[in-house]
Amino acid sequence: TAEELDERIRTAKATLGDRVVILGHFYQREEVVRHADFVGDSFQLAGAATSRPDAEAIVFCGVHFMAETADLLSTNEQAVILPNLAAGCSMADMADIDSVQECWEQLEELYGTAPDADGRVPVIPVTYMNSSAALKGFCGEHGGIVCTSSNAETVLEWAFERGQRVLFFPDQHLGRNTAKAMGVPLDRMPMWNPRRPLGGSSSDDLTDAQVILWHGFCSVHRRFTVEQIDRARAEHPGVRVIVHPECPMEVVDAADEYGSTDYITKAIAAAPAGTTFAIGTEVNLVQRLAAQYPQHTVFCLDPVICPCSTMYRIHPGYLAWVLERLVAGEVVNQISVGADVADPARVALERMLAAVP
Ligand code: 13P
Ligand code: SF4
Repeated sequence: TAEELDERIRTAKATLGDRVVILGHFYQREEVVRHADFVGDSFQLAGAATSRPDAEAIVFCGVHFMAETADLLSTNEQAVILPNLAAGCSMADMADIDSVQECWEQLEELYGTAPDADGRVPVIPVTYMNSSAALKGFCGEHGGIVCTSSNAETVLEWAFERGQRVLFFPDQHLGRNTAKAMGVPLDRMPMWNPRRPLGGSSSDDLTDAQVILWHGFCSVHRRFTVEQIDRARAEHPGVRVIVHPECPMEVVDAADEYGSTDYITKAIAAAPAGTTFAIGTEVNLVQRLAAQYPQHTVFCLDPVICPCSTMYRIHPGYLAWVLERLVAGEVVNQISVGADVADPARVALERMLAAVP
């Protein structure tokens, strides 16, 4: 039963004491989040991965790319464990290293490799945290950087200081929404077209590009629509609409505010009692916030339940299992990034950590 699982997790965790630290992303279900030592957005959890160098194991209740990042930033002696290895991110899977490499070669052919008079290189690659370690490594090797949804604008400023243009992957929406908010015109952010690399209109677009977008998207966030926002406003006059920047541009434009999962959490926590919020992000977080702040009305913009199915794969049963194996002296489901990728990936992550105040 759920109670038995809860008890097994508590017992194993108590036995392990300081030997283990449990990190949980905001999208995890309540039965998992309640056992986490740190709960946060992807940027905060990257920091949390370095906060307990004494712990033998970091159990990461989130998705694969987050556990990889924790492995990159934690000490060599620490084991990072993903309770269910099938917890991936469909957006991260939309950019593979071979396609990015191919794109890069085409861009080098088009723009050359020489810096301009101000010393800015032709292209800086920027990868969203939601990407494999291999892509972070690619960015590290090519003068690029990692961003998260909480710091994308600061990171793009960093990139524009060093490059004439940016290649942004995998999430087209975060790239477009952020660049647009910074004043980049839409016709100067073409989408990379792998089928038509340098031919036809796509290469014309590329000539003037400031941001070249990848075609990735989040299948959870792309479900939000302007109609849902219109309906929320009609049914709840005065409602505050906040969406995640992985939502399509029209949705971000129609919302009152947008921001990372941490931004959303803090906005609700800080609001005067009695505020009504319509939220455009993953439903487990929205439902938890609704329960946590009964003085407000908090609901998900999408009336059809829209969990992130891969985040949901961290069932409490898996958490109990990995903790009990640790008690027995066995590390299971370890996520370990090989040194050839880890070294350059760490460079790209450290550039982000240095660029973000
Ligand atoms: P945050 O950076 O806001 O935690 O978002 C991560 C994510 O996967 C959103 O879908
Ligand atoms: Fe990936 Fe979307 Fe799930 Fe976030 S919500 S982990 S971007 S699939």
